[in-house]
Amino acid sequence: MQSIVPNAYPAPTSAPGIVRILCLGDVVAQPGRRVLQELLPGLRQRLELDMIIANGENSAGGVGITATTANDLFRAGVDVITTGNHVWRHKECLAYIGKEPRLLRPANYPPKAPGRGLGLFSLPGGRQVAVLNLLGRVFMDAVDCPFQVAERLCAEAREHTPLILVDFHAEATSEKRALAWFLDGKASFVFGTHTHVQTADPMILPQGTACLTDLGMCGVEAGSVLGMQQETSVRRFTTALPHPFVSAKGEPGLNGALVELDAATGKATVIHLVRRGGVSVLAV
Ligand SMILES: [Fe+2]
Ligand SMILES: [Fe+2]
Repeated sequence: MQSIVPNAYPAPTSAPGIVRILCLGDVVAQPGRRVLQELLPGLRQRLELDMIIANGENSAGGVGITATTANDLFRAGVDVITTGNHVWRHKECLAYIGKEPRLLRPANYPPKAPGRGLGLFSLPGGRQVAVLNLLGRVFMDAVDCPFQVAERLCAEAREHTPLILVDFHAEATSEKRALAWFLDGKASFVFGTHTHVQTADPMILPQGTACLTDLGMCGVEAGSVLGMQQETSVRRFTTALPHPFVSAKGEPGLNGALVELDAATGKATVIHLVRRGGVSVLAV
């Protein structure tokens, strides 16, 4: 059974042939970008990280992503940015995504959409890591079947590397857990994003695929609804009027997961929840 370490950082496994990757949930607005800038340089060193992946779909004002906010994340130390249903909120992203190979959009959008959903990235030393971004279909916009697209693109990625990470940006826990089982043995780590709430279900499936239903978010949690001011969110629900969202102010949290992968097989050996903030788990 994997350990859950909410308040202490795990000691890196310094065995050769292990790749350590930190995946971070939806980065929300300026506070989310700021917490990455503050923490990632130290975390990269302390956790001996080979790669950092973050979902950036909320990095611009809480909804969408721009070249400026993407560059903030890259400068903070993020290697690959995934996105989700808010990727096209700012029109400039339509042109920008074609020029920035480190920025992915869900692969199961129609093929004529700009950008791409599968990227192959080189680590220092030459190892390659594939990152695949997908969008769910339960309570989400209509897109191509994420299961079929995942099967096809994981096979394509595997021709280059066994290290394959999948950001499944989806609402329903059932759909996310099902994709993880569907990809068991075909991907190294299947993690969910989009709900902004970290789930407490990190596990490694029998064929070596790590999974977590949702990474959570990087943004202000206290006094907010998913990183946005609670007042405007409550007003939207109580009036059914389109009050514009306003990002929350305050001390941001950081949520994600750390996986250790066997570089030769792509199988996960360890998964840890990563969370900045005061939570405690009472193990019984
Ligand atoms: Fe989001
Ligand atoms: Fe989303």
